[in-house]
Amino acid sequence: MKIGIDQIGLFTPGQYVDLVEVAQARGVDPNKFTIGIGQDRQSVPGLTQDAVTMAANAALDFLTAEERDQVELIILGTESGVDNSKAGALYVQHLLGLNQWSRAFEIKEACYGATAGLQMAADFVAAHPDKKALVFGSDIARYGLATGGEVTQGAGAVAMLISANPRILALNNDSVYRSQSIQDFWRPVYSDIAFARGHYSTNQYIDFFQKVWAKYREETGHTLDDFKALCFHLPYTKQGLKALRKILPETNVDHQQSLLHYYDESIQYTRQIGNIYTGSLYLGLLSLLETSTSLAAGDTIGLFSYGSGAEGEFYSAELQPGFEEQLHGETHQQMLANRRQLSVPEYEKVFSEELPTDGSAYKADTSNEKARFYLAGIKNHERQYRDHLRGNEDAGAESAPDEPIA
Ligand code: COA
Repeated sequence: MKIGIDQIGLFTPGQYVDLVEVAQARGVDPNKFTIGIGQDRQSVPGLTQDAVTMAANAALDFLTAEERDQVELIILGTESGVDNSKAGALYVQHLLGLNQWSRAFEIKEACYGATAGLQMAADFVAAHPDKKALVFGSDIARYGLATGGEVTQGAGAVAMLISANPRILALNNDSVYRSQSIQDFWRPVYSDIAFARGHYSTNQYIDFFQKVWAKYREETGHTLDDFKALCFHLPYTKQGLKALRKILPETNVDHQQSLLHYYDESIQYTRQIGNIYTGSLYLGLLSLLETSTSLAAGDTIGLFSYGSGAEGEFYSAELQPGFEEQLHGETHQQMLANRRQLSVPEYEKVFSEELPTDGSAYKADTSNEKARFYLAGIKNHERQYRDHLRGNEDAGAESAPDEPIA
């Protein structure tokens, strides 16, 4: 039985900053950002979008009423969670009106979370072929103004429907994975910005890739020649290229050129959006599928997932007949083109705004918020989610009894 990605959707906030302008403001040669790091623009989330709303918005690309009922597993992969206790997946369930006879939870391992969710969902469908799962990778990447990591920030979410007989990509059940506790990147619970040993992290990513790739070759007998394209976790677009270049000599020059061509198609969305942590690998996959005109059913795609801390996984998947008809490329390109450009001072102001943490009421400025699901504010330590279609009612949870909060 084939199991895999039946549907895939994308959301990114409606504002961006141009990284040439950021480079100029920081006194850095813009070529460092656009060529050396490989990033052009960066999505900038205001306080009206968080990991919950972005995930829910990403599923709107494809979710039908029938699928809302068929989903019995809802997994939110995120490292930008909004609560240390309640799973963001429950807010997403409520916002999207998903089946309540389901398991819903959050999963965390840096940028690897969505892959963990995807593989768990595939196992779930293998055990229950008539059921479906929704897996989200949703994050806000924040390192701080004028830091080394600033150019690799971003925000967005990918939503994936996992099912039997998938219409886009069937997993080949050949994963090779490795985990090891290292200190390359972390975010303590008291901080909303991440800390990273950037160069160490970059090198660990490559090291994990080379190790899992070598083991994958050994275990499966496959070589680079068996792959039409490779997709990588993309904290910034140069990172995947550094890993790809390590194994390119394993194939002939023509195939090397072809892999580089597909790599270039896989990074187009990330160049415009930035790092979206857990969703980044799948943003790359989406970019490849929606940009390329030469992929065909039966092509094998390799996927490398990396989460700092650290965990790496390589697996392959096969494109399914008619996959092109399941994509929403035009919608996504319009979403990117319609974003509002912020000047550097505007971006810095948005970046510095914070939700209150002392329980005081906060009402967000939602005048520029076009996305269907958004955060309207915070009251009594509770997030007030809204759905443009449902007006002013709280769309994130059932109404609570009027009882003092302990
Ligand atoms: N023109 C073109 N390229 C230039 C340049 C210029 N004027 N100036 C520098 N570069 C190149 C460098 O040669 C280098 O390329 P290389 O990596 O292929 O050698 C690249 O730009 C980056 O330069 P570097 O000096 O290493 O940048 P940095 O010290 O600012 O650090 C990161 C870059 C990615 C490590 C930093 O942004 C970071 O810490 N990011 C967050 C952590 C992260 O994303 N980790 C990834 C693993 S998950």
